[in-house]
Amino acid sequence: MFPAHRPRRLRTTPAMRRLVAETTLRPRQLVLPMFVKEGATAPVEIESMPGVVQHTRDSLRKAAVEAVQAGVGGLMLFGVPATRDAVGSGATDPDGILNAALADLRAELGDSTVLMSDCCLDEFTDHGHCGVLTPTGEVDNDATLELYGEMAVAQARAGAHVVGPSGMMDGQVGFIRGVLDDAGFTDTGILAYAVKYSSALYGPFREAVESQLVGDRKTYQQDPANAREALREVELDLAEGADMVMVKPALPYLDVVRAVREIAHVPVAAYQISGEYAMVEAAARNGWIERERTALETLTSIRRAGADIVLTYWAAEAARWLDRE
Ligand code: PBG
Repeated sequence: MFPAHRPRRLRTTPAMRRLVAETTLRPRQLVLPMFVKEGATAPVEIESMPGVVQHTRDSLRKAAVEAVQAGVGGLMLFGVPATRDAVGSGATDPDGILNAALADLRAELGDSTVLMSDCCLDEFTDHGHCGVLTPTGEVDNDATLELYGEMAVAQARAGAHVVGPSGMMDGQVGFIRGVLDDAGFTDTGILAYAVKYSSALYGPFREAVESQLVGDRKTYQQDPANAREALREVELDLAEGADMVMVKPALPYLDVVRAVREIAHVPVAAYQISGEYAMVEAAARNGWIERERTALETLTSIRRAGADIVLTYWAAEAARWLDRE
């Protein structure tokens, strides 16, 4: 007996496959995370993230314009300061590297892209934690919120369209919303890192920002074992006024991306983090997998799981690959 149903009919030609593809992957759905290093006179390569650099203010401007021309939907900026202290003063200083670079990019790009900024203290503190510490060395949630509020206003003033609180302090979205509104920045959006796991895959990022962290972030980032807890975090952030919510990392947490997609009636982002990028780059360098195909497969999978927006270090390059289609 011949099979009555032949799903393979829909796979017979490239044109047929293109017609029936369920998931789109377009440049506008990709956001490029970028690093800018205070005092750098030339871009500095990040060994564990081949192809990614710590930019100078000048090279950042140029690379940002190129990424926008390639069609990416937005940029997410991280600062690497020259000096750090216990309270992360560089984060709130209007002349701090992140704020200065945001102003550069807003002047250069205007409203032609969505400029986002990491709203977290870990790059700026000498102990590397995402918040300030109590005298006994615990991360002080509520004292940290005050600084996030100041940081968010400094970033909005510098030109960020969207701030991205990534520190996983309780109440951070509501607090930042209130402070931004009081300062008149009612149009500045909040991309909530609603779901952020305590992941081993942040390793290369810590090289990228020269993190000073000793220990871990397990008292504020989530346990990889928990998915229901992720939905609680999302519900809280939505109630606090998040404009978009994010899941991070992406690939090991596609079940969570899907679950969040089902409850959140705002755009859902997923962050394909440094370690996800590094794994593929390393395997590709060994000739063990095809780099471009693997990168696009992972991005498509993250979209298929339900992410509207994907933050990825391949964003600009992937935008060029996709434009050939
Ligand atoms: C915290 C922050 C981290 C990343 C983005 N924001 C690192 C951390 O939580 O340790 C990681 C991104 C990546 O690994 O690509 N400001």
